[in-house]
Amino acid sequence: MDYTPPPDSLIPNDELGASIRRGLALVTHTTDSLPAYATGSLQCASCHIDAGRRRDAAGLLGVYSRFPKYMDRSGAVVPVEDRVNYCFTRSLAGNRIPNDSREMQDIVAYLAYISLGVPAGRHVMGEGMPKMPKLTGDSGRGSLIFATTCAVCHGQDGQGTPPAFPALWGPKSFSIGASMAREERAASFIQHFMPQNKPGSLTDQQAYDVAAYVDSHVRPDSPGKEDDWPSGGAPYDVPYNTKGHVAYRPPSAKLFPRPHPPTTLVPAPASIMKSPASMRAKGQK
Ligand code: HEC
Ligand code: HEC
Repeated sequence: MDYTPPPDSLIPNDELGASIRRGLALVTHTTDSLPAYATGSLQCASCHIDAGRRRDAAGLLGVYSRFPKYMDRSGAVVPVEDRVNYCFTRSLAGNRIPNDSREMQDIVAYLAYISLGVPAGRHVMGEGMPKMPKLTGDSGRGSLIFATTCAVCHGQDGQGTPPAFPALWGPKSFSIGASMAREERAASFIQHFMPQNKPGSLTDQQAYDVAAYVDSHVRPDSPGKEDDWPSGGAPYDVPYNTKGHVAYRPPSAKLFPRPHPPTTLVPAPASIMKSPASMRAKGQK
């Protein structure tokens, strides 16, 4: 269905509205707001442009209505909180935030707001990222495109100038377990939204070439990644081995180790300490 989320001006002026506004701030200023969880240079909105409201830019429109959802990558039906934590641990190469923290509930309140009116289970136009024609990137050609078209914002060394310009590789960028580490997914994002000052100016082939170049660099590891797609069927461009799948162009150098495996919770945010479990349970149902 065609869907436009309600504007910020209609966020109610009550407690729920305050939570929605906090959630919007968290996805836009993730590294400032949640430094213990977003440990790199990326915000949620670095990929989910306009805080997920831009169509096709990993669009989060209507996302709340699509959960719980079966994810073949984890071989399980997951709630939206777990999906958010997937992006915390993989796309931000950061740490899991407790599902019952106020911060997680604020993010979910915001996701529910940009899904208002979408019936459960319905898909909307502009969610996710458009599929690309299947091409093969050439990282040599990609390096030339990068130098002339991308380095002005993301730096010759790909490290950007955070928080304005996020890193594309290195210890502060997305992990190897992120969708952006897949050549076709990165090519789709890049073809439609980069360079940010001239989106749509690259051909599909150029987008693949520069995606191949970006994804050829070393980045944070994603411990446990070999257990992804436990029933097989990984997409062709996943850059690491999984059941029945051989890595497509694994990075040439050793990945940056991660201090916390994806399931570990680093010390809970203060909001959890303040609200006893009993009160939370009462407040939720
Ligand atoms: C490096 C880029 C990147 C960053 C940073 C990122 N994400 Fe994602 N996220 C993605 C991609 C790519 C997808 C999958 C989109 C697709 O292919 O359909 C996704 C999917 C999601 C989904 C599920 C969407 C659906 O319809 O199933 C949610 C929810 C989500 N992200 C939330 C977040 C939140 C919250 C943050 C910050 C904590 C975040 N993401 C950070 C790239 C990113
Ligand atoms: C004018 C500055 C600018 C240029 C030029 C530019 N980008 Fe970006 N890029 C950004 C900004 C800013 C973001 C974060 C999203 C946003 O705020 O719109 C971003 C986000 C990204 C992301 C997702 C986040 C991350 O760090 O991985 C990728 C991938 C990316 N750019 C790749 C490229 C590539 C490849 C090129 C060259 C074809 C390019 N960009 C050119 C400014 C730029």
